[in-house]
Order: sequence, then structure tokens, then C-alpha cells
Amino acid sequence: MATFHERHPGITEALLSRSRNDAQDNPYEWAARRVTNVETVLDVGCGNAPMAPRLANWVGLDLSEPELDLARSSGRTPLVCGHSDALPMADGSVSTVLAVMSLMVVDDPARTLLEAARVMRSGGVMVIVLPAHRPVKIGDVARFGSLLAVLGRPMLPFPHPEVSQKLQELLGGAGLELTEDVRSRFEYSIAEDTDADLLIESLYLPGVPHRRVRAARAVARRWVGRSVGLPLRRVVARKVDGSRARRSRM
Ligand SMILES: C[S@@+](CC[C@H](N)C(=O)[O-])C[C@H]1O[C@@H](n2cnc3c(N)ncnc32)[C@H](O)[C@@H]1O
Repeated sequence: MATFHERHPGITEALLSRSRNDAQDNPYEWAARRVTNVETVLDVGCGNAPMAPRLANWVGLDLSEPELDLARSSGRTPLVCGHSDALPMADGSVSTVLAVMSLMVVDDPARTLLEAARVMRSGGVMVIVLPAHRPVKIGDVARFGSLLAVLGRPMLPFPHPEVSQKLQELLGGAGLELTEDVRSRFEYSIAEDTDADLLIESLYLPGVPHRRVRAARAVARRWVGRSVGLPLRRVVARKVDGSRARRSRM
């Protein structure tokens, strides 16, 4: 995954910032709607920092230098180069932790949540955005089905696809209580070939042969003039007063 982001810094924002749900929010605006306390906001796996312009008192953390360089070049600071397994923040020092499209790709999601809970103050809030399987329209099912068929994969291969299924258990293990769990479909319009290419480039496809990726690009280029749905899940969790975290293994 690190190599993917070194080769494609900013790719997630390039795709998602052009996608809109029914309320005309892009996924970053949708995530920001649940940040109600901006005393100190820590964005774990911030990438090139698309959340930075949306929030006061924001600090981004990522382990990818190319992503952080891109953030810096857009004036999106302050930034910390660090690992989610060991957040360089004091206990109870953060009011809101964000993990936007990052919890399913970090090395150890359970450890990341424990660290998030440790740095959060009591009553602090964590906002998580993850890829989801629904809601979708029938056309999305057909389009992604044909894409997965040419890629030769049953599903998109995130490093930790199980995070979504086990999220409530993982949150509980970190002393975090789920307070909201919603899903939304974001529509990405494919007006020209380059839009189709961006969609394919944004997919994390380790070990998929080049010929299959080329075939996927050709499939996506057939969708020019149409749009595809990107279903996402937004989870909000609160640090429970006096909670004691348990280490939960995945
Ligand atoms: C899919 S990108 C999302 C970036 C950004 N949040 C966005 O939505 O555009 C995931 C990010 O998580 C970062 N990442 C992966 N593992 C990490 C870890 N253990 N600690 C910190 N960042 C990590 C990657 O470098 C990458 O920038």
C-alpha cells in the first residue's frame, strides 16, 4: 500500500472530490459534517490532506512522504510524518480523530483504533469513512461486476476488507462507542476517457497483471457519458467516559 501511495499521491482526493451524493456533498464534505468539535482535529492517514481546508485546528498524519509533500505544496499544514500504530500525541489531547478512507489500509486497524482512543479526550469523537458495498443502483452492480471480471478478482482487494464487518467490535475493544453508522452513494461522472482512466488508476490492485488493468481501462472507457456509484460508509464513535480499552485481534 505504501508503494501505491508513493506512485499515486493525491489519487483518492482526485477521484472522491469529484463525486457527489444526493445532498451534493463530496465524501470530504460529508465527513466534515460530523466534526462538531474543532478544538484539536487529528486526521490519521490524511494523504494529501483534502480535509485540511474544511476544518479549523486540523493536524494531518501520514506515513507517505509523497502524499505529505503534495499536501505541503498546496499549503495544507500542519503535517506529521508518522505511523498510526504509535501516534506522536499525548493521551487525551485531541477532541476529534478522523480516519477518512484509511482504516482499511493501515497495517493494524485494531492498534490504530486503540491509539486513536488513547489520544482522544473523554467525550471526544472519531469520524471514520470506509468503502461500502451499498447503496448502489442496478447499473453500478453491472458495471463493477464487469470490471471485477476483467480484473479477475471477486472484490476490490483492500489490505483489510474485514474492518467494515468487524468495526463495532473493534471500536468497543478500543473503548469507543458507535453513535452513527450511515451509508451514501457518491456519483462519479465519466465525461471522457481520462475520467475512466482516473477511476482505474485509483484502484488498489496489487498483483493484478498489466494486461488485466489495461482491459479494465478499456471497460471503463466504454462508460463515457455515464456515471458510476461509489458507496461509502460513515461511522461516528465517541470515547466513553472512564472506558478501558481491550486489545482486540483481527
Ligand atoms: C486511501 S488513502 C486516503 C487519504 C486521504 N485520507 C483521503 O481520503 O484522500 C490512505 C492513506 O493512509 C496512509 N496510511 C496507510 N497506512 C498508514 C499508517 N499505518 N499510518 C499512517 N498513515 C497510513 C497512506 O499513506 C494513504 O495516504
